[in-house]
Amino acid sequence: MDELIYMDNAATAFPKPPEVLQNALDFYQTYGVNPGRSGTDLALEAEAMVTEARKTLAAFFGATGDSDRLVFTQNASDSLNIAIQGLVQEGDHVITTCLDHNSVLRPVYHLEQTGQIEATYLPFDSTGFVDPDDVAQAIQPNTRLVVMTHGSNVLGTIQPVAEIGHICRASGVAFVVDVAQTAGMFPIDMEAMKADVICFTGHKSLMGPPGIGGMYVREGVTVEPLRYGGTGVRSEYPDHLEEYPWRLECGTLNLLGIAGLLEGQRWIAKEGPETIYERETTLLTKLVAGLKEVDGVILYCADRLEHHLPVLSLNVAGMTANNVGTLLDVKFNVATRTGLQCAPRVHEQLGTKETKGTVRISLGPFNTEAQIDTVIEGLQDIVQRHGNRN
Ligand SMILES: Cc1ncc(COP(=O)(O)O)c(C=O)c1O
Repeated sequence: MDELIYMDNAATAFPKPPEVLQNALDFYQTYGVNPGRSGTDLALEAEAMVTEARKTLAAFFGATGDSDRLVFTQNASDSLNIAIQGLVQEGDHVITTCLDHNSVLRPVYHLEQTGQIEATYLPFDSTGFVDPDDVAQAIQPNTRLVVMTHGSNVLGTIQPVAEIGHICRASGVAFVVDVAQTAGMFPIDMEAMKADVICFTGHKSLMGPPGIGGMYVREGVTVEPLRYGGTGVRSEYPDHLEEYPWRLECGTLNLLGIAGLLEGQRWIAKEGPETIYERETTLLTKLVAGLKEVDGVILYCADRLEHHLPVLSLNVAGMTANNVGTLLDVKFNVATRTGLQCAPRVHEQLGTKETKGTVRISLGPFNTEAQIDTVIEGLQDIVQRHGNRN
């Protein structure tokens, strides 16, 4: 069988650097006990690794406060649920955007539908960016929270979060940023962004295993816990602990995931975050230039590639996204993601109902120029045999 050309890295990065999985496994085999539960050497080693991971990630995200406010969760969806539900109160107004993923939209919609909050969903412009002025105009006296994605998982556009963060801070509105797509790919400085909370997932560009994610809550910001339970310390207290990290963490941590995430940090540092971004942006530029020459391929919001992740949405005129994706898979061994990519409002605004969404190509650190050529040739072939050329 031909080489698999994996271009669905926005869903999850694949493959993972071998050292990430090896070191996670080695650590787990050697020190895989419950940290914070006893004073044995093994438990202390496990705790030291978790502490190092909190410190490394807090610094990576530009957090200047206590690294214990870096809390581990299952993934970005989990973190966003905790942040959204832990920040808003009945009668509040929440602003989000049509670019957002269901992991933001559904918790917000649930609160809206159950009559607890009002919500505003801001559109993006024709190039795929939310206008900070729209955020400023949408703020009402009861606006409590702006929650939005840093990078669109459908269009790849990196949003002007620093400008939006400044508007929120000046208005006394909490600002939560979903960095699921950008973390590990694009620099994140939560102080410069004026973010109150950032929510990340481990298995995308942070190169960790699935099932580990987290959030950082800035000092002075109060997120109410959603869950209560065992923390391993101060067991005599009937109340769940108020201090971080326990405030938002309960039960046994995903030690294997944290060890992998920490090794992912080392891998990113070794490769150089700018080098990773530049390499993938060069491939994206080649892909876009090649596809612009193919009559019948429709690209979405790809005219400007600055402030852009290596993520591209496209369609072939006269075909559904799913049919294009299936042909890319079956004939050319290229794995992409088709459909709505968990971000239905993006597609409502793009008007991609008839094509049933888009074909999303998302690049990763192991893609090559030769693979880009194969994708361009594959799409040329699909247009010629099955599409409507202009
Ligand atoms: C922008 C964005 N936010 C949140 C998520 C959710 O991440 P997870 O599935 O790891 O919770 C994703 C995953 O695709 C995403 O692309």
